Amino acid sequence: MDLTITPLMASDIGQVAAIEAMQHHAPWSAASFSDVLRQGWHSGVLKDANHTIQGYYIAMTAGDDEELLTITVHPDAVRQGYGKRLMQDLLGHARQRGAARLFLEVRASNAPAIRLYEQLGFKITGMRKNYYSLPANLQTGTPAGREDALLMCLPLNGEIH
Ligand SMILES: CC(C)(COP(=O)(O)OP(=O)(O)OC[C@H]1O[C@@H](n2cnc3c(N)ncnc32)[C@H](O)[C@@H]1OP(=O)(O)O)[C@@H](O)C(=O)NCCC(=O)NCCS
Repeated sequence: MDLTITPLMASDIGQVAAIEAMQHHAPWSAASFSDVLRQGWHSGVLKDANHTIQGYYIAMTAGDDEELLTITVHPDAVRQGYGKRLMQDLLGHARQRGAARLFLEVRASNAPAIRLYEQLGFKITGMRKNYYSLPANLQTGTPAGREDALLMCLPLNGEIH
């Protein structure tokens, strides 16, 4: 299928915010995505042959490093390689601008995302205890609480996997 990855545009924000709301416990708002445009942060929006958005990422420059702020694939489009394509796009951008490392934070329970990052060569370099809020789960009866964040890092002087 014909896929493109292009920077976020104002006209993408409605679809992006809708995907964000479906996939995250504490989703970014449409206003947060508008801020991305104002701040000039780096972004990639993956569209299929019908120009439908299937996923996106937002990243920012942090000195010599690059930091992934969010990456999301539409719930109906997961496990088709889109997350990896988006990460490879970000890695290409970070290497091109000469970034030394790519950092990210991820919920300790987010096994799919952790597997994706590990597949690309990221290593866990730290943990922030009780960093994220966790909503109550009515199905399992688990009350609202907190969840640890794992810090992951990929040095950018190696090979793209
Ligand atoms: C994490 C996320 C972006 C992955 O996107 P995706 O398009 O499904 O990932 P891909 O199809 O590219 O998978 C690449 C690799 O990630 C891992 N992976 C992805 N989904 C997985 C799952 N459900 N279970 C286990 N491993 C998984 C696998 O290693 C996979 O490689 P493989 O298919 O060769 O086994 C997607 O699940 C998502 O949007 N989740 C909700 C939002 C989120 O948690 N974002 C991350 C915030 S830090």
